[in-house]
Amino acid sequence: MRVAIVGDPVEHSLSPVMQNAAFASAGLKWEMIRVRVPAGGGADVINRVRAGEFAGLAVTMPLKEEAARSVDDLDAASTRQRSVNTVVGIGSGHARGLSTDGAGFVNSLYAQDIALTGARVHLLGAGGAARSIVAALGAIDGCEVTISNRTHSAAEAAAELSGSAQAVVADNLPDAVAAADIIVNTTSVGMGSDVDAGLIPLPVELIASDHVVADIVYHPLTTALLSSAAIRGAQTVDGLGMLVHQAVLQCEAWTGFTPDPVVMRSAAEAELGQRSG
Ligand code: ATR
Repeated sequence: MRVAIVGDPVEHSLSPVMQNAAFASAGLKWEMIRVRVPAGGGADVINRVRAGEFAGLAVTMPLKEEAARSVDDLDAASTRQRSVNTVVGIGSGHARGLSTDGAGFVNSLYAQDIALTGARVHLLGAGGAARSIVAALGAIDGCEVTISNRTHSAAEAAAELSGSAQAVVADNLPDAVAAADIIVNTTSVGMGSDVDAGLIPLPVELIASDHVVADIVYHPLTTALLSSAAIRGAQTVDGLGMLVHQAVLQCEAWTGFTPDPVVMRSAAEAELGQRSG
């Protein structure tokens, strides 16, 4: 059986190494290939799932919204976000869309024994990743979410994805962060060469030793935010956690097999190591 990672670009996606390691660990004769599909190609590639060419898809930018419009049905999280990162062929020419990003983020925290029931979470950023996280946190009992973003209107729109989320303006960021148990960076600040400049998405003095600080940026694995947080005594969660745990849920949705996240993480780390070496 064959699944594909689709989007544009897909050359640097870690999905194939993670999924192929997961398939191999179970002795499954499945493989993931990369298929570059630019904007506008979403409906066509989903027809290839309906026709049985692919058993499923991992969907990345810029196809997540297009794919959500093209599938035959959507899970609850994708319906709210109007975006999917996973497509599953379900026989008789049907394709179902799912979003595993938010649940993957939640599972990455659970994997580090971080509780979310009754927790207060502050999200920095309000893009696609933030929206999936807000939707997933909104389903957890007593989890209160605040969101700040460079463009405030996007924070307000993201907050609407959960009954208990609130957008906060920049002036109120210090209070929102002080009240939070968990701070999550979902912005692209800290990615790639930002690490050399030491760029972090909030004033460092707002981070306290009793915070958990999570970053969804995984290139580099140790962002300037995570090193600063560690220096200030906070517990940290790196961005590979979300990537791996959302991939575990994708593999489960396609094959019915739940892979060991450690297998997928090792494959991703080996690939990242090779690229930087
Ligand atoms: P993703 O799918 O990874 O969430 P995205 O949807 O493009 O990516 O969202 C990027 C997020 O990073 C947005 O919240 C964006 O803020 P805006 O809504 O104001 O664009 C945020 N972001 C990107 N560059 C930033 C910067 N230099 N400073 C602060 N926030 C930034």
